This record gives sequence, C-alpha cells and structure tokens, in this order.
Amino acid sequence: MARHLITSALPYINGTKHLGNLVGSMLPADVFARFKRQQGHEVLYICATDEHGTPTEIAALKAGQDFETFCAERYASEQKLYAAFRLSFDFFGRTSRPQNHELTQHLFKKLDENGWIEEKTMQMIFSPADNRFLPDRYVEGTCPHCGYDKARGDQCESCGKELEPTELKNPRSAISGSTALEVRATKHLYLRLSHMVDKIRAWVDSRTGWPHLSKSIAHKWLDEGLQDRGITRDLTWGVPVPKPGYEKKVFYVWFDAPIGYIAATKEWADAVPGRDWKSWWYNAPDVTYTQFMGKDNINFHSINFPATLIGSGEPWKTVDFIKGFNWLNYNGGKFSTSSNRGVFMYQAIEILPPDYWRYYLMSRAPESSDSDFTWADFQATVNKDLADVLGNLVNRTLQFCAKKFGPAVPPAGPLTAEDNAFIASLQSAITSYTSNLEAKEFRKATQDLRAIWVLGNEYLATTAPWTAAKENPERAGHILNLVINFLRLVASLSAPVIPDTAEKIAAILNTDSPHQYWPQADSLQAELKALAPGHAFTIPEVLFQKLDDDTTTALDARFSGQAKAA
Ligand code: MF3
Ligand code: ZN
Repeated sequence: MARHLITSALPYINGTKHLGNLVGSMLPADVFARFKRQQGHEVLYICATDEHGTPTEIAALKAGQDFETFCAERYASEQKLYAAFRLSFDFFGRTSRPQNHELTQHLFKKLDENGWIEEKTMQMIFSPADNRFLPDRYVEGTCPHCGYDKARGDQCESCGKELEPTELKNPRSAISGSTALEVRATKHLYLRLSHMVDKIRAWVDSRTGWPHLSKSIAHKWLDEGLQDRGITRDLTWGVPVPKPGYEKKVFYVWFDAPIGYIAATKEWADAVPGRDWKSWWYNAPDVTYTQFMGKDNINFHSINFPATLIGSGEPWKTVDFIKGFNWLNYNGGKFSTSSNRGVFMYQAIEILPPDYWRYYLMSRAPESSDSDFTWADFQATVNKDLADVLGNLVNRTLQFCAKKFGPAVPPAGPLTAEDNAFIASLQSAITSYTSNLEAKEFRKATQDLRAIWVLGNEYLATTAPWTAAKENPERAGHILNLVINFLRLVASLSAPVIPDTAEKIAAILNTDSPHQYWPQADSLQAELKALAPGHAFTIPEVLFQKLDDDTTTALDARFSGQAKAA
C-alpha cells in the first residue's frame, strides 16, 4: 500500500468553469484518485478555490458585493457543481481561509530569513481620486498596439497582447473612472529566483518520469534564465504581508495559491480530530505527490512553488509528478470564460448526467496535442461508445438471460477454447488499461476501457447464446454466466471514469461496490466466478440515452449563438 497525494490546480473563483477547465485538471485527477483508491492505496485528493488577486476584486466590484460575500457565494456554487460531476475531493478548501494565511506568512518569513527576498522600488500608477495604487486590471485605457479603447492594464482583450498598466494610452481607473492618474514610486518584495536557477534545475532534474510537456516547459524557463518575481501587490483582498511598510499590500495571488494545497490539507485535518496533515507534506518521503494542471500553470508549479518550498529550508514535500494538459478547443477555437465561448460546466450538467461528459472528455483528453470539442463528435461518442457498446451489452445480456433462464446467474460450465480466448484477451486488455492509468495516459486508458467493453460484445457475437439456447441451452447458460461475471468486472473497471454508471451496474447485479476493488489480470479466472449460479439480478433500465440529430443540431445552434451573442 502506497500513499498518494493528488491535487488539481485550484480553480480561480472569479469566473465559472468550462469543460476545458474540467478536462485540464480536475477530471483526470479524479479518475486517477479513484483508480488509486480502488487499488487499495491511501489517497488524499485535495482541491480548493483560488480566491485572491485583481480579477476577483474586480469581479466582486462589478457584482456590487464585498470580496468576502462574493467569494463565499461563488465557493458554494462551485463546490456544488464539482460534486455534481462526481469529483471525489477528500477536501475542497479555500485559499482565503486562515490556514492559508498562516502558512503563506510562515513560508514568506522563512524565505526572508534565508535571504531569498529582496525589496525593490518601482514606478506604479497611483490614483489620487481612489487614494490607492492601481495594479494591472485596475487600470483601463487604449491599447498601444491596436487602439482598442477598453484594454486592461494586464492584457488587451482585442489583440491579445500582454501589457503593463503604464503602457496604456489615456489611462483611467477601473474603479472610479478617474483619468487624473499619476506615476509614483512604491516598494514591492521580490523572490530572488535569478539566484535560484541551479537549485531549481537540480530539483527538476531529480524528478523522473515527467511527461514531455511538463519537463520541456520547466526547462524552457530555466534555460531562458529566471527573473526575480514580484510577490506583493497593492490590493486588499489577499494574505497580508508581515513586514513593516507593507500594511496596505498583500501577497501576489500566485505566491499564496499553491501554498493553498498545503493549507487545504490542513483544513481537512482541522475539520476532524485525529487527521494528520503533516505526514502528507512535511518530512514525507513515503508520499507520492502528483499534480494535475493545464499547460499555462506548469511554470508556476515546476519553478515558483518549488522555489518557495525549497527556499524555506524546511523539509516540505515537493511534487513528484506534474501531469500537464494542452487545450481542449471548442469548434476549432478557444474555450473562453471572458468571452463566453464554449460549454460551461453548469450548462453541461443541465443537459446530461455527469458520466456522459466524463467519458467523452477523458476519451478526448488533450495530452499529446490540443483536442477539439464538437457537438457532432460528442453525439457520435455517446451513441456509439456509451449507448451501443456499453449500455447495450449490459441490457441485452441481462434481458436475454432473464427471458430465457429467469433473473439469476445460470450455472457455470467447463471453459471452451472460445471462453479461454476471451479471458486471455481480457487479461491483456486489463493489463494495458491498468498500466495506462498508472502512467496517467488518459486517452489511451479510455481506449483500453472501451476495448474491454468491446471484448464483451465480440464474445457474445462469436458464442451467440441466443442461437445456442435453441440447440444447447446448457451451453447458453454457461456463456451468460461468464458474461454476467464479466459485467461485474466492467463495473469496477469503468468506475474511475463513469462512477455513477458503475454503481448502477453493480446495483443491477446486486453485487459489491465497484469502488472497492480493482480486478487483477492474473487472477481473472477466480474473479469471473464471484457471482455464483443462482445469484439474482434485476432487469436493467436503459443505461444511456442516445442523442438524436435534432437535439444535437439544436445544442450546436444554442452554443454557437451564445458565442456570437458574446
Ligand atoms: N487559479 C489558477 C488557474 O485557474 C490555478 C492556480 S493553481 C495553484 O489557472 F496551485 F496555484 F493554486
Ligand atoms: Zn490591443
């Protein structure tokens, strides 16, 4: 038994999440956590909302709410949504909670003591009307590149170029609209990454087995030479900086957010007496720590966060394996929260139950390259893989058995050559599936899962129990015995990806929870005897509804309308 610490990138709280966010960090982490739990390992799967930063402050101001209320409401609705997608976090915390404040301040003090923090003086935009400095998005103005007049101080939404607030023409305050802005000198704290390159490189090189995407991004940053990173901001919603002169500043969101992984684990422990957070994070060589994230987050997790932990000089657990993802596109373009493009999680869950989305998204996980969501592809996948291959297999097997022999497992017979061939193929499919899950190769793993379902259909096609039932009902019973026992394994093998359906199948078969075991390829013969002759099952309802063409066309139109309206 091993100990697996698993985290998904902490979702920003300011906007609601789309399917691209789901497939790029939370869903694969959940599949992996479920797989590891089923294998019997000790798993701690942690996530939280990433609550600080300018975008959150601006979103709250726009909503006319104070930061605390805005975040509390958004947190509650995101938590509900993630539960609806069956994301099985052991704890879902918040970076705004005291645990994160304390840990962030603690790590900062250690970095400061160790000489890794430097104070620098810089020129920033100050608004006398607002009586404050205006960082990034708090300044709006005309883009110096394309002339767009609502460009934000961090980026122009029209041409996409990244900006500094001081580059904007005709700058104005996003709070008061005041154009009477000044440039004033102020102080900020920097993490001296430029002096940590060798340390970080040695750490990156000590991590083995990372996917190419993660290693190459980390090396790219290291090779370009690391810049010192500003870790304070002129904001109020955030972790206060424990240093004289910094009373009106807080830590930069990317400084405190990853510390939130540790802090959320502390929240988990604080919630129930007897739970121990430290054994997961401090002096924890027995823990395997895997992080899941989109590729835009890899630099922060492979450079900045390890620098914080290593620079503290304390024995914090650093990540063993970073699983990064490319983008899921929508109809060939980007999913975008800010321009309302694509399908949002709250919309998806109103259209179909979670397993439809979970299976589809895992089968299209953007691993080696970007991948594309289209409604036609979604329809084809649901109809073929889920309804025809899996749903139909379960239904016709059990319905036929009930009709012919009654709703109970028929007696088993001696294994024929066909049976042995089926079991051998199953053995190798399970071995491949297990090792792809182990390697966190989700697209391949999902193909393997589908191949396992297909094996069941092929076995039925070759042995044709409906024909056999006429001349040799005993043999037909033997075949059904084997397939029904196979369906029990299908429930467990499918559970990481489609947990609700797995539970349904197990309930129909009147058998043990699919979440509590993982079929072993080398003891399949025994596994395939778990449901004894006479074991009663219930007649299944249809497991998956097909999506018809009209519905699909209507969905396509509705969501392209949404994109245009934005
Ligand atoms: N909030 C970031 C995003 O959604 C991810 C932060 S990961 C963390 O892209 F570890 F820093 F929290
Ligand atoms: Zn522009």
